[in-house]
Amino acid sequence: MFKKIIIVLLILAAIGAISALVHNLKVAHRNKKELAPFAQTQTYTANLGKVLVIYYSWTGHTQDIADQIAALTHADTYRIQTQEIFESSPAFYARIKKELANKQYPPLAGQMPDIRPYDTIFVGGPVWWYTMSTPLYSFLEQMDFQGKEVIPFSTQGSNPGTFLEDFQSRIQNARVGTYANFNNVGAQYNEAVHNKIIHWLNHLK
Ligand SMILES: Cc1cc2nc3c(=O)[nH]c(=O)nc-3n(C[C@H](O)[C@H](O)[C@H](O)COP(=O)(O)O)c2cc1C
Repeated sequence: MFKKIIIVLLILAAIGAISALVHNLKVAHRNKKELAPFAQTQTYTANLGKVLVIYYSWTGHTQDIADQIAALTHADTYRIQTQEIFESSPAFYARIKKELANKQYPPLAGQMPDIRPYDTIFVGGPVWWYTMSTPLYSFLEQMDFQGKEVIPFSTQGSNPGTFLEDFQSRIQNARVGTYANFNNVGAQYNEAVHNKIIHWLNHLK
């Protein structure tokens, strides 16, 4: 009996490992295909006026994209921060899932940014459970964009879910411009990701 249980557990573990491998291979293939058109160096040619890049980032990926946008456009940046410092743990994922379901968003630290001087405003953050991260929900609940144009961006492992739709339905008093999303990819794609950012900035509508 004991032997049978061990065999079943081993089979289940093998199925889990194979599905994870297949998923990772599929994501790697999609990333390669998506970034292939951005292999060639792009030159930034847009003129977006005075730019502000607003972002939330927990583990640094969105910050990296925000920093690149800011460097190209000579923008100011504003980092959304939560009063609570989130610690990484498996329980954190379950907690966030529950909070999203209950529309329970975290209190933010600091003042809202003064957006009046800016011509173009980017707002970005990570995807959490196929939607916006909870601090971004908090931010959009508090912020009146005063009729400005806002350009959303997200970073995610591989699936942005309904980030854009949820962003559009929550943002107050803004025109929403061309969205871009960025999967977390290896350093071998750094140049392609940078070129993708430039291409996006040059083609904003
Ligand atoms: C609670 C939680 C949920 C996540 N859910 C998703 C998801 O639904 N889809 C996805 O592709 N990535 C998901 N991720 C991965 C993040 O979106 C990704 O790592 C993102 O680039 C992190 O951005 P940051 O480093 O700026 O915090 C999740 C991460 C966390 C912490």
